[in-house]
Amino acid sequence: MEINSIKNFFQEKFSATATCYFSPGRINLIGEHIDYNGGCVLPGAIDKGILAAIRPNGAKIVRAWSVDLSDYVEFGLEETDKPEAGWARYIFGVCREMIKRGAKIGGFDTVFSGDVPLGAGLSSSAALESTYAFALNELFQAGIDQKELVLVGQKTEHNYCGVNCGIMDQFASLFGKAGYLIRLDCSTMEYEYTPFDPKGYRLVLLDSVTKHELVGSPYNDRRASCERAALAIAKRHPGVEFLGQATEAWLEEVRAEISEEDYLRALYAIQENVRLRETVEALKRGDYETVGRCMFETHRGMSQLYEVSTEELDFLNQIAADCGVTGSRIMGGGFGGCTLNLVKEERYEAFVETAVRQFRERYGKEPKVYPVVISDGARKIE
Ligand code: GLA
Repeated sequence: MEINSIKNFFQEKFSATATCYFSPGRINLIGEHIDYNGGCVLPGAIDKGILAAIRPNGAKIVRAWSVDLSDYVEFGLEETDKPEAGWARYIFGVCREMIKRGAKIGGFDTVFSGDVPLGAGLSSSAALESTYAFALNELFQAGIDQKELVLVGQKTEHNYCGVNCGIMDQFASLFGKAGYLIRLDCSTMEYEYTPFDPKGYRLVLLDSVTKHELVGSPYNDRRASCERAALAIAKRHPGVEFLGQATEAWLEEVRAEISEEDYLRALYAIQENVRLRETVEALKRGDYETVGRCMFETHRGMSQLYEVSTEELDFLNQIAADCGVTGSRIMGGGFGGCTLNLVKEERYEAFVETAVRQFRERYGKEPKVYPVVISDGARKIE
């Protein structure tokens, strides 16, 4: 939705003017399911996200419209005021997490709309959280540091939405920078902007339009498996807190002590962490063939070891391989959503055309195609 439309919608509903804020969704080049394993990830913000108009109302109540869902909710700011509507819980959670950090958040009126596709693994929920965390921090002069705002979003997921996610999505949404990926160390929150301009290649997402819903999903089970494996390793190698600090050899030592399922999940996480490092080095050399190979390996790991892929995503990945695409993999949490594809310019048109056609022939519906534009993070929009 355009800025003027959202302002007009606000005016219509609340007979007043408001300030607008935007936060984006994200992609992640590589390092999947690694944020909660204490390793590094390589996300970037995209040009799609959530746009909100907000105005403090001087009361103790939040009055919120979701434009896209045509839904209206009112809620107070006490812990017991948690709204029923799923979308409103994100906003409520952000308010509560900021209040827990000492912010004096008052009531406000708001409307929001998004163009980041829901359930595509592009982190529409982090975009929503980051929009409100960033905006309320400014509007109520809460003075919360930007890294702490990342945790506000993450804890909203944990405490109000049922997903034990890591920090990657919220970090990318708040810290994104046009033209740069973020090499983020999730155990320390240290980060570095890495220029990303793969000359001669394009990055494109193919949305399998299959459901991606992390709430109440096996996402939390994956995390629990990794934590159990890390704990087993720590008994022999004190000081290991996350799988990001462990090696495959250490995992082999404890193989008999953990379940086969936990072993497979941990094996993926340890290997993915190594691939991340290899990819970062390859990027420095401009070696996109290695980046692409790592992406295919990630897909295999996510599909066969971590088991978060779907038949549709495996199908899209296979088409990419058949079309000579440089790199392709399932992206984000999994269980549906998109593949991320690194494609040579000259193969781009043929690949997209083939993928759309073959997917339609097989599943009777078309995958959506989103070219990736690496963009800026959370901001006020004048
Ligand atoms: C979801 C979570 C992130 C991260 C990814 C997988 O997007 O919100 O924290 O774990 O899945 O990399």
